[in-house]
Amino acid sequence: MSDAKPSTEAIPKWQIALAVGGTLALGAAGVWYFTRKTSKNDERKEPDGGPAPEEQADEPIPEPEVELSPLEKAQGAKNKGNKYFKGGKFEEAIKCYSEALEVCPDTNKKEMSTFYQNRAAAYEQLKSFKEVVDDCTKALELDNKYIKALFRRAKAYERIDEKKQCLEDVTAVCILEGFQNQQSMMMADRILKDMGWEKAKEKYKNREPVLPSTHFIKAYFSSFTEDIISQPLEKVVNDEDKDQEGEAEQEAPPSDYLKAKRYFHEENYDKIIGECSKEIDSQGEHLAHALLMRATFHMLMGQAPLARPDLDTVINMDTADKKLRCNALIKRGSMLMQRQQSEEALQDFQTAVDLDQENSDVYHHRGQLNLLLDRVPEALRDFEKCCSLKPDFALATVQYNYTQYRAAMLQRSAMQVQDAMKQFEESISKFPDCAEGYVLYAQALGDQQMFDKADDNYKKAISLEPQNATTYVHRGLLHLQWKQDIDAGLSLIQKALDIDDRCDFAYETMGTIEVQRGNLEKAIELFNKAISIAKTEMEIAHLYSLCDAAVAQAEVAKKYGLRPQAMM
Ligand SMILES: *[C@@H]1O[C@H](CO)[C@@H](O)[C@H](O)[C@H]1NC(C)=O
Ligand SMILES: *[C@@H]1O[C@H](CO)[C@@H](O)[C@H](O)[C@H]1NC(C)=O
Repeated sequence: MSDAKPSTEAIPKWQIALAVGGTLALGAAGVWYFTRKTSKNDERKEPDGGPAPEEQADEPIPEPEVELSPLEKAQGAKNKGNKYFKGGKFEEAIKCYSEALEVCPDTNKKEMSTFYQNRAAAYEQLKSFKEVVDDCTKALELDNKYIKALFRRAKAYERIDEKKQCLEDVTAVCILEGFQNQQSMMMADRILKDMGWEKAKEKYKNREPVLPSTHFIKAYFSSFTEDIISQPLEKVVNDEDKDQEGEAEQEAPPSDYLKAKRYFHEENYDKIIGECSKEIDSQGEHLAHALLMRATFHMLMGQAPLARPDLDTVINMDTADKKLRCNALIKRGSMLMQRQQSEEALQDFQTAVDLDQENSDVYHHRGQLNLLLDRVPEALRDFEKCCSLKPDFALATVQYNYTQYRAAMLQRSAMQVQDAMKQFEESISKFPDCAEGYVLYAQALGDQQMFDKADDNYKKAISLEPQNATTYVHRGLLHLQWKQDIDAGLSLIQKALDIDDRCDFAYETMGTIEVQRGNLEKAIELFNKAISIAKTEMEIAHLYSLCDAAVAQAEVAKKYGLRPQAMM
């Protein structure tokens, strides 16, 4: 759907969760995953829904001398139709199925619905999708749990771009099949993603800019160690002096960019874009710095389209400091990644490596991107390089250890997992003040069902960074998995909202829990709340997928009385 579909699909975070062993923090697939072991109660199991028409017991066409009942005549016509179908003569097949429908007594509902379904299969071959929808609808009026007809209609709806109906049908199919069929699950996933991105684009465009919390802004800048714009003021001034071969006018009035810098260090973030714009409009001496700073704050406020031209300008400025250009490339790369343009994103990172091979930030951020794309060996290489350039960079070290742990899990090697856990312990004693270290280690411990120890590590992370709401959500999820106590888990997650009522991860998680307990209306409300505060287009798209999945399940429950039973 999106204009620039990447060839490497971005891996949504639920798949990472699944790969690691499936905590409750799943997301779209979580909805499917957790309802999977349900609804074994559908009476009619259909053969799988390929293009072939319904066979049933392929009754031989009786001898002509025998007097045929209307039903037998209809069966005969259908069998003839099936032969034409197999021979690729779809128009003739349609005629035969129509004849079958004409002669078949109305009371033979099951047969009638089969004939409609078969005719729909022939129309599908001719790409007459409206007719496919009509015939499947008739088949379903006669038998509303006819999986083949539902799935065929779902495919036709997709072709005529009726996504909402498509999603409803395929959801019903998934529920009827007990979430066991790869084909229909993948289709549901695809439709949900398409719908999510479509809505997210619209939503993101019309969103009003908001500055995130001071805590968030500081955490963002601390993920860069080679970033000139966030370095202390004195250093910049000195660097600039050096650039001008020293001795320049000592008494020069402070430039607008330096004013912006001062606001930055005073955490007076609202004023920064204005000062940067003055510097840029007057083509001041800190033009490149000002462009990068303005772009960064536009990004942080969720205004990627405004950030983009500034980043482009810095990247193309041959005279600018290469650290500025690398930083701009990292940010543009991350922005492209957010829009699922992972190929272009990786290209920007490669350009940055070529520009400054010793820049640890490039490897660090590319490592995270590779991890998100599930490219674990590439992520390992990046983190290794970053840590060799900056052995004291705690964040990169613990992410390196976490990636090593992920790799060990992928290899299914108990030995390597143990090693990775040991490395984690060492890193934590080496960097006892790095909250992320405890959180990542706790996630690994949770996977390994070492719940007590995981909980201790979350507690440590919380004591180091009490304002970081997401850690409470992780801890709540751990308690859900550990004690199966929903109310205790929810009350921990509620703490996240007490600290930060704009924590979309908390609303998302609560929504997922409500889906799992069958409270779809409540879940939809929570997902919408998360959508209204989510920061990136990618997150918004993901949340719409969750919400649409819940809406479709609610519709299916109403229409067919189908309800995956609550898991908890
Ligand atoms: C993990 O942490 C340890 C100890 O800090 C460190 O020596 C090691 O290189 C890190 N990386 C991996 C992949 O284990
Ligand atoms: C909160 O904690 C998580 C996990 O440690 C980390 O990834 C994230 O960057 C932190 N967020 C902020 C705003 O500090």
